[in-house]
Amino acid sequence: MTTLREIAWGSREYAQEVDLRYRLLREPLGLWFRATELEAEEHEQHFGVFEGRRLVACVVARDLGGGVAHLRQMAVDADRQGRGLGARLLSFAEERLAARGFREAVLHARETAVGFYAKAGYRVEGEPFEEVTLPHRRMRKSLTPR
Ligand SMILES: CC(C)(COP(=O)(O)OP(=O)(O)OC[C@H]1O[C@@H](n2cnc3c(N)ncnc32)[C@H](O)[C@@H]1OP(=O)(O)O)[C@@H](O)C(=O)NCCC(=O)NCCS
Repeated sequence: MTTLREIAWGSREYAQEVDLRYRLLREPLGLWFRATELEAEEHEQHFGVFEGRRLVACVVARDLGGGVAHLRQMAVDADRQGRGLGARLLSFAEERLAARGFREAVLHARETAVGFYAKAGYRVEGEPFEEVTLPHRRMRKSLTPR
């Protein structure tokens, strides 16, 4: 059964989340997470898609203040991509954030993922820039509470 839910920082599910993000986003670039980076995530919101107890997709939201959330570390496991899970997760996270009073979501999209976020209503702003060795675009979307 597929379920979408929030993940508590420091939990066993959070350990799965860090592993998924490492395998999808960092290991291919030869990068790892610094301990301070993960400690700071205690204050962020974590969202996941589970198939049974297996975490198959995740995204993290950081409060930038002023009603703006920074969505980051979006990853769908390799054997689960292209099935609509990324779109469902993004929508779930946006709904939760809007319900908590966030009015806007911003993100740094890898150039290769810009089309995915564009389909979800995000618009590119500004010039391309480099992050974790890859070209990225800043994107933004207004969040509307249901
Ligand atoms: C990018 C990623 C999050 C998309 O998740 P996904 O579950 O594979 O995407 P979905 O199946 O929900 O796709 C939703 C829509 O976006 C499209 N789409 C998905 N990935 C896309 C991409 N990289 N570029 C353009 N369009 C894309 C799909 O075709 C689909 O379109 P449709 O609604 O017309 O059918 C996922 O492939 C992933 O984790 N990739 C590796 C890590 C990564 O790049 N993360 C993003 C860092 S910014």
